[in-house]
Amino acid sequence: MPQQVKAVIARAKGAPVEVTTIVVPDPGPGEAVVRIQACGVCHTDLHYREGGINDEFPFLLGHEAAGIVESVGEGVTEVVPGDFVVLNWRAVCGQCRACRRGRPQYCFDTHNAEQKMTLLDGTELSPALGIGAFAEKTLVAAGQCTKVDPAADPAVAGLLGCGVMAGLGAAINTGNVGRGDSVAVIGCGGVGGAAVLGSRLAGAAKIIAVDIDDRKLETALTLGATHTVNSRTTDPVEAIRELTGGNGADVVVEAVGRPETYKQAFYARDLAGTVVLVGVPTPEMTLELPLLDVFGRGGALKSSWYGDCLPSRDFPMLIDLHLQGRLDLGAFVTETIGLDAVEQAFERMHQGDVLRSVVVL
Ligand SMILES: NC(=O)c1ccc[n+]([C@@H]2O[C@H](COP(=O)([O-])OP(=O)(O)OC[C@H]3O[C@@H](n4cnc5c(N)ncnc54)[C@H](O)[C@@H]3O)[C@@H](O)[C@H]2O)c1
Ligand SMILES: [Zn+2]
Ligand SMILES: [Zn+2]
Repeated sequence: MPQQVKAVIARAKGAPVEVTTIVVPDPGPGEAVVRIQACGVCHTDLHYREGGINDEFPFLLGHEAAGIVESVGEGVTEVVPGDFVVLNWRAVCGQCRACRRGRPQYCFDTHNAEQKMTLLDGTELSPALGIGAFAEKTLVAAGQCTKVDPAADPAVAGLLGCGVMAGLGAAINTGNVGRGDSVAVIGCGGVGGAAVLGSRLAGAAKIIAVDIDDRKLETALTLGATHTVNSRTTDPVEAIRELTGGNGADVVVEAVGRPETYKQAFYARDLAGTVVLVGVPTPEMTLELPLLDVFGRGGALKSSWYGDCLPSRDFPMLIDLHLQGRLDLGAFVTETIGLDAVEQAFERMHQGDVLRSVVVL
């Protein structure tokens, strides 16, 4: 029987989000219905509400979530009812050209549920990132459910579903930060903060946090930054060079998504160093760099999609490290809120007051 549940939707461009009743179908072949326990509020949800992603309103928002599998459709082998899962937006297909070459972390044909969730009048919803988890229950492809240790707090575990994984992965997967490396992270919100934490996990010797907000720099220190630079008052390129013997950092993670901060990252890295762009730019942004500098400085200029994570490999491992007290994922949960407070959470995010507000159900 299709079920009626409470959920947060964005009905029209720019309009405040609203709590309403939606219809969740029974899972079809390859699908699962998940009872959501927690879902973080991410910038991307706000982008959907503002019409910045596409025009397919109404959107069912929310995508950084953890919960319990309630029911599964025909042919599902990955999970069974009762499993504690983190939802992901990279259910790898196993067959696209990336998967066939053994690079499933880049899968170009990821899965979502085939059936649509709807409003009571039958209007089809577009779930954010194919998830839609500001809801008591949601319908996803079974491959979007990654089983992790149920001892983890859902409010913490769910954050691996997007921003925190993006930041951790930008450092450990894309940037390949290793023992003894120097790392600089530009922009220390939820994503950049996670890049700081990931760099510490990977054994970086020097971790330089850069932000324009002192509150973020203080948090970065608790996450493992060894030095901080407020780039509103100090030239970050000079400061990073000074802190690295005049050379620049081995890896610089850009977690803002702007041309000026990308340029800072480009010039703040050592010769043959790596820049990782994990911040997401907007369509009108362009970048101009002397081509000779691109050549002459060598190294690697990389982008990090979802931290180049492979959910089945990375989520259980990171949750285990967290449960062992070796990875403070709890530091990202600034506040827990109800489904009815998502609009206020957007405002707090906009003011820079939070790393993550997490809806708990
Ligand atoms: N690549 C991915 O898969 C992926 C996934 C999730 C989010 N993101 C992107 O990562 C970026 C960061 O997300 P977030 O959730 O951490 O956002 P956030 O708002 O929490 O953090 C952004 C941080 O950047 C700082 N900042 C802003 N302008 C700056 C500047 N000029 N110099 C230095 N610092 C500056 C802010 O003070 C803030 O601390 C966004 O662009 C987001 O869309 C990417
Ligand atoms: Zn694939
Ligand atoms: Zn997100």
